[in-house]
Amino acid sequence: MKKYFSEKLRINPIEIKDKVYYYGSEDEGDQFGKEQLQEWINSGWLLSNWNLKINKGESDAFTTLAKKVVEINLPYVEIACGPGLGLTPCIKKQNPSLEALISDACPYVVEGWKEVIRKNNLTSNISYASFSNTNMPFKDNSIEVITSYVGIGSTRFNGENGMSAINEIYRVLNKGGYLITIENEISDYKIVDDIFSEANRFNYYKQFENYESIVDRLTRAGFTISELTFLGKKKVTEDDNELGELSKEQKKDVYWNVYAIIAKK
Ligand SMILES: C[S@@+](CC[C@H](N)C(=O)[O-])C[C@H]1O[C@@H](n2cnc3c(N)ncnc32)[C@H](O)[C@@H]1O
Repeated sequence: MKKYFSEKLRINPIEIKDKVYYYGSEDEGDQFGKEQLQEWINSGWLLSNWNLKINKGESDAFTTLAKKVVEINLPYVEIACGPGLGLTPCIKKQNPSLEALISDACPYVVEGWKEVIRKNNLTSNISYASFSNTNMPFKDNSIEVITSYVGIGSTRFNGENGMSAINEIYRVLNKGGYLITIENEISDYKIVDDIFSEANRFNYYKQFENYESIVDRLTRAGFTISELTFLGKKKVTEDDNELGELSKEQKKDVYWNVYAIIAKK
């Protein structure tokens, strides 16, 4: 781990292997297995996700947010990087040497990205760690920029009010530091309920029904919203998840409202 980040740690990792710092969060993220990651690497899917992002046009929200991160020009932490690596491909396209730490609760995703980045010589100056968004290893007020793509919305075990990850991000950010993210919110939970009832399946989304909006939760944590752009509605499809599959089967469309958010501590 680069010195900039290691100096900011408040918790020692359980293990450091091949320069990846492990914090024992494997049961908290999505349960992608080692084999799943190898398949994604071998089929070229992770690399294609990187390429898709770096080929986005100038006006794309990922590129616009990445530009903001590059303007700030301070090391950043990408959370819940997942198989798409959040804003990082767009940031690294604009400034390959900007120091970054990429993380996810699922260690195999982090290891997978490390392998793809190294093998394809995609970029440099990246540190790797696996930890939960709800328990980050950093000291209070230590990090200048946190980036993500749906990292807050994807956080599992996010507390009763969906505040755990947001409060944790607020804690580790320095005063004046930024959270720069794109987040999705289901636009109509009633349809989601109908869909799961008809399919007689467990409605995972029920827990989110009474959450305040992402903007209200960020504000409640203490953030000032410095930019908020509604990016439109995105249909949940069968490629996304079980909800998308069921919605197709039952011919009941479900949408996410998508927002680009820059929040300042
Ligand atoms: C849909 S992906 C997010 C999208 C991703 N940023 C991208 O660009 O493709 C969801 C990711 O969130 C991670 N995740 C879920 N809960 C988490 C938590 N509590 N802390 C950190 N990561 C978490 C999962 O392991 C998974 O990799």
